[in-house]
Amino acid sequence: MSANFHRIVILTGAGISAESGIDTFRSAGGLWEQHRVEDVATPEGFARNPDLVLNFYDMRRAALANVAPNPAHMALARLEREFRGDLLLVTQNVDDLHERGGSARVLHMHGELKSALCASCETRAPWLDAMLHRPPCPVCQAPSLRPDVVWFGEMPYQMGRIYQALEACDLFVSIGTSGAVYPAAGFVQEARAAGARTLELNLEPSEGSSLFHDTRLGPASVMVPQWVEEMLGG
Ligand code: OAD
Repeated sequence: MSANFHRIVILTGAGISAESGIDTFRSAGGLWEQHRVEDVATPEGFARNPDLVLNFYDMRRAALANVAPNPAHMALARLEREFRGDLLLVTQNVDDLHERGGSARVLHMHGELKSALCASCETRAPWLDAMLHRPPCPVCQAPSLRPDVVWFGEMPYQMGRIYQALEACDLFVSIGTSGAVYPAAGFVQEARAAGARTLELNLEPSEGSSLFHDTRLGPASVMVPQWVEEMLGG
């Protein structure tokens, strides 16, 4: 793939963090086999059993201390530094491995583990500690903090900005995502409608593989650095 692109949108999913040791959702033994989605990833589940939900995200937040970015995260950070056109990195991941890999501008459309959302005053604030003990909101002091993670039935963040970039891009690249969750799963069609070339990098063909012009199969830690090298004309 030549470096002849000027506006790239990259979408990442759990597969890019898999080799760092973070469980994906839909693989055998993945998070959605260990937990019921309705219990830990819906507003209704939170209303039913807030302790269960707060504890689930407290454990995932704490687990970030035991993982590190892999060569795929670092390669995307290199692309951000060295690519001369526009680049928008959109992730569905709530981990912080893109940032720790060196990416400065990451759009977390499904929120972040290291952020809290106050259910009372709607403040979003960086948050590194547990929430199970109901710490007060740093702004309104109400004990109403919840994980700043987008649950099923809630609107992902910054969709306006993402669609704007998709409409203007000439290359869309999807990395390590199963294509099972909308609206992210529909980005490839938006990009194609705008005339962009589309590329999927994944371990195995995803549900939406046939929608892409090109698919390259293999582990992200190998495929992403290889593709970045090509893009930068190396
Ligand atoms: P999934 O678990 O659905 O899919 C992960 C994808 O990564 C699969 O297609 C795997 O084949 C691929 N994969 C696994 N290991 C890989 C590796 N080493 N290199 C490359 N690819 C690899 O995760 P997502 O697609 O991210 O949302 O899931 C999307 C959303 O569903 C998540 O953001 C989350 C979840 O429910 C919410 O909770 C709102």
